[in-house]
Amino acid sequence: MFLIYFWALLLIFLIILLIIKNIYRKFTIREIIGPIPKFPFGNTRKSALGEQNLIYDVDDIYCQFKEKSLVCGFFVFLRPYLLATNSEVIKEIIVKEFKKFRNNDFAVNLNKDPLIGRSPFRLKNETWKLKRSEIIPTMTQIKLKSIYPLIRNGTKNLVDYINREIINDECKVFDARNVSTRYTCDTITSSIFGIDAQSFEADDPFYFKMGEGLVNGVVNSVKSWLPFKRLPHDVESFFYDITMTAIKFRQENQIEREDFLSHLISLKNKINMSDVDIVGHCVTLFLDGFETTSLVIHHALYELGRHKEAQQKLREEIYSNDKELSYEKLLELPYLDQVFNETLRLHPPIPFTTRVYYYTSAESFIPERFNLENGGVKLFKERCVLIPFGDGPRQCLGMKFAYIQVKAAIAEIVRNFEVTVDKSTPANPKIGPKEYLNVTDHKLMLNFKRI
Ligand code: HEM
Ligand SMILES: *[C@@H]1O[C@H](CO)[C@@H](O)[C@H](O)[C@H]1NC(C)=O
Ligand SMILES: *[C@@H]1O[C@H](CO)[C@@H](O)[C@H](O)[C@H]1NC(C)=O
Ligand SMILES: *[C@@H]1O[C@H](CO)[C@@H](O)[C@H](O)[C@H]1NC(C)=O
Ligand SMILES: *[C@@H]1O[C@H](CO)[C@@H](O)[C@H](O)[C@H]1NC(C)=O
Ligand SMILES: *[C@@H]1O[C@H](CO)[C@@H](O)[C@H](O)[C@H]1NC(C)=O
Ligand SMILES: *[C@@H]1O[C@H](CO)[C@@H](O)[C@H](O)[C@H]1NC(C)=O
Repeated sequence: MFLIYFWALLLIFLIILLIIKNIYRKFTIREIIGPIPKFPFGNTRKSALGEQNLIYDVDDIYCQFKEKSLVCGFFVFLRPYLLATNSEVIKEIIVKEFKKFRNNDFAVNLNKDPLIGRSPFRLKNETWKLKRSEIIPTMTQIKLKSIYPLIRNGTKNLVDYINREIINDECKVFDARNVSTRYTCDTITSSIFGIDAQSFEADDPFYFKMGEGLVNGVVNSVKSWLPFKRLPHDVESFFYDITMTAIKFRQENQIEREDFLSHLISLKNKINMSDVDIVGHCVTLFLDGFETTSLVIHHALYELGRHKEAQQKLREEIYSNDKELSYEKLLELPYLDQVFNETLRLHPPIPFTTRVYYYTSAESFIPERFNLENGGVKLFKERCVLIPFGDGPRQCLGMKFAYIQVKAAIAEIVRNFEVTVDKSTPANPKIGPKEYLNVTDHKLMLNFKRI
C-alpha cells in the first residue's frame, strides 16, 4: 500500500517537473537567448524576495544581453516575458506593428472591479478603442485652455502654502513629494469635478487618502494575476458618490463649468453611457492625473536643487515674461520645456516602458541636450529612445494635461523660491523594492527659501 502511494507521488512530482521544464523551454526552442530561469522565481529572484525593485532585475538582464541580441526572453516566476533591447524593435512593437501588440498585460476582473476595470490602460481590443475615444476629446487645446485657470489657482495655493510654512524668512525643509502631491491632488480634483480638495489645508487630506486607495488597488492588480477584487469598497463608493453628487448638483442648479466632468455629462447626453461608465472615466483621470505628475514635479525640483545654474537659467526665463503666465506662454517657454523633458528622460514615473541608454552623459541632468538648435527631442523621439509617454496608438492620452499641470507648478516655485537639496537626502536614491512607479526608497527633502 505504502509503495503505491510512493510511486504515485513520485509520478506526480515528475509530471510537474516536466511541465515546469517545458514552460522554461519556451524561449530556447524558439532560439531566443536569455538568462537561465530557476524554479520557482524564474529570473527575478531578488525582487521576489524584496531585495531590490523588479526594474533592477530587468535592468540586470538588459545589461547582460543588450550587446548580444535584439530581444531576450526571461521569466517572472513561470510567466514568460520578451525584453526588447533595441530601439528599432521597440518602435516596431509599439508603433509599426501595433495591431499585433495592442493589448497591455494587465488583468482585472471587470465584474469585481467595475471602476479600475474601465481604464483604457487595462481594456483590450475594441472596448479599449471605444473607451479611449471617449476621453480623448477632453484633452483638446480648447478644453485644456479653459481648465488652465483652475491650474493657476492651484499654483497660487501651492506658493501660499510654502510661504505660510516658511517662518521668519528662514530656509524650510519640505518633503518634496508631499508638497507636489498636495498640489496635483487639488488641481486634478478641481479639473475633473470642480471640487476643492483642500489638500493644503487639512493635515490628513481626504481626497489624497482616497487617491492613495486607488493607487494601491491598481498596483496590487498589476503585481499579481489572482482574480481578487482590488479596490476597497470605501474608495469605490467615495468616487461613485462624489461623481453622482456633482452631476446632480450641476443639473439641478443649471451650472455650466468648464472641466472634465462637463465633457462627460454632454457625452452621456449623446451616447448610451451608464453611470458606472462616467465614474470609471473620472477614476481613470484622477488616478492617472495625480501620482505621475506629482512624481515628475518632485524630481524636477530635486534636479533643479542639485543644479543651481539650471535653476537660475530657468528663473531668468520666467522673470523675463509676464507675471501672469498665459496658457500659450507657459507652453512656449523653451528652457522650461527642456527641463521638463530632461526630467522625464532621467526620471520617467512609469519606468517600465522606458529604460534606454543612448545618450552622452546619460546619467546627468543636462536640459541643454534638448536645445532647439540641436533639434530638441525630435531626433530622440524618432529613434524611439525617449518615450516617457509611450508612443503609437496607445500613447498616454493625458500628456497635454500633464504639461500644463507640471510646468505651471515648476514655474511658480522657481519664480518664488530658491530650492536646494537638503543634506538628509542621499546622493543616489534608488527605487524602493516594493514600488511599482519610480518612487525612491528615501524621501527627497528639499529646502525652500523665499526670494
Ligand atoms: C508626466 C506625467 C505622465 C506620464 C509620464 C505618463 C505616462 C504614460 C505611459 C508611459 C503610458 C503608457 C503608454 C503606452 O502603453 O504606450 C500612459 C498611458 C495612459 N495615460 Fe499617462 N502619463 C502621465 C500623465 C497622465 C495624465 C495626467 C493622465 C490623465 C489625466 C494620463 C492618462 C493616461 C491614460 C488614460 C493612459 C492609457 C492609454 C491607453 O492605454 O490607451 N496620464 N501614460
Ligand atoms: C482580443 O483580440 C484577440 C485577437 O483578435 C483575441 O485573441 C483575444 O481573445 C481578444 N481579447 C479579449 C479580452 O477580448
Ligand atoms: C481656488 O482655491 C481656493 C483655495 O483652495 C478655493 O477656495 C477656491 O474655490 C478656488 N477657486 C476656483 C475658481 O477654483
Ligand atoms: C503630507 O504630510 C502630512 C504630515 O505628515 C500628512 O498628514 C499628509 O497626508 C501628507 N500628504 C501627502 C499628499 O502626502
Ligand atoms: C444602453 O446600454 C445598456 C447596457 O449597456 C443596454 O442594456 C441598453 O439597451 C442600451 N440602450 C440603448 C438605447 O442602446
Ligand atoms: C528613478 O529615480 C531615480 C532617482 O530619483 C533615478 O536615479 C533613476 O534613474 C530612476 N530610474 C528609472 C528606472 O526611472
Ligand atoms: C519636449 O517634448 C515634447 C513632447 O515630446 C515636444 O513636443 C517638445 O518639443 C519637447 N521640447 C523640446 C525642447 O524639444
